[in-house]
Amino acid sequence: MNFKGRDIISMKDLTREEIDHILLGVEGIRNHPQRGKLCKGKDCAMLFFEPSTRTRTSFEVAMRNLGGKIGGFYDANITSAVKEESLWDTVKMHDGYGFDVIVIRHPLKGAARVASEAAVIPVINAGDGPNQHPTQTLLDLYSIKETQGRLDGITIAMVGDLMNGRTVHSLSEALLKYNNCNLIFISPRDLAMPRSLIDKCKKEMSGKGGSVTEGSRIEDFISDVDILYMTRIQMERLQESALAEKFRSIYRLEASMLSGVKDTMKIMHPLPRVTEIAQDVDDTPYAYYFQQAKNGLLVRETLLALILGAIK
Ligand code: CP
Repeated sequence: MNFKGRDIISMKDLTREEIDHILLGVEGIRNHPQRGKLCKGKDCAMLFFEPSTRTRTSFEVAMRNLGGKIGGFYDANITSAVKEESLWDTVKMHDGYGFDVIVIRHPLKGAARVASEAAVIPVINAGDGPNQHPTQTLLDLYSIKETQGRLDGITIAMVGDLMNGRTVHSLSEALLKYNNCNLIFISPRDLAMPRSLIDKCKKEMSGKGGSVTEGSRIEDFISDVDILYMTRIQMERLQESALAEKFRSIYRLEASMLSGVKDTMKIMHPLPRVTEIAQDVDDTPYAYYFQQAKNGLLVRETLLALILGAIK
């Protein structure tokens, strides 16, 4: 399997075998004797048109840990985008400055795909609007496998703003590649998973021994799940402020709600959290979101090393 020069834009573009290969590579990177030199001389352009803490920092540290360099920008307001330079031209410029890979985050769905068409060098999607966040999904899958020992046969509830949350869209697409998974979508009706994705999940899951269930209350499902995947309400994507205000605090997981859950159940969250997980949950054995975010470092190191041809 060869990932050298490959774009990572959507989970739809990766086969199950390719995902499994990336996840297996994480252990190889962790113990690689040349880890600090694998990407020596390589340069990564970070084009961040939207704010980020985890994705940005973990890509930076990942590149540094591999001996590589980074450039680019984290605030489009200090670039010529404010002078109406197009995304295409911005990417073209970075493509021509000697970088080896581009990591891009952008508020518009499809922006990462456009970037990959503009660039000769590989492009990694670090989140394009409400669409996809494939590197988050890879670290989510790694974390599920680490805690449950498998990806087949998982029962997972995804909770929150499923209409606008790109992480749940990416994760659902990825889990369609595994067998016997039960997806439970918990949201207010106004923030439900896009109907086209629900229909796709139902169709494909039923052929693989899995299921798709929709609901609106965490309490109705919490005792059945292996993974409770909480997400925040995406205030920045809710144009209608009345809707945003109505739902901003609709879900709040508290430690008192966790009696009766499976011993092995883990709570995940792509972070940042706002009010949807109370701090008293952090001290329970079910909280996994900070470790999940930490796992992103090694997963992103692995992906960079694969794409830059440092490992196979
Ligand atoms: N999970 C995630 O994408 O976090 P950031 O927005 O902080 O990068």
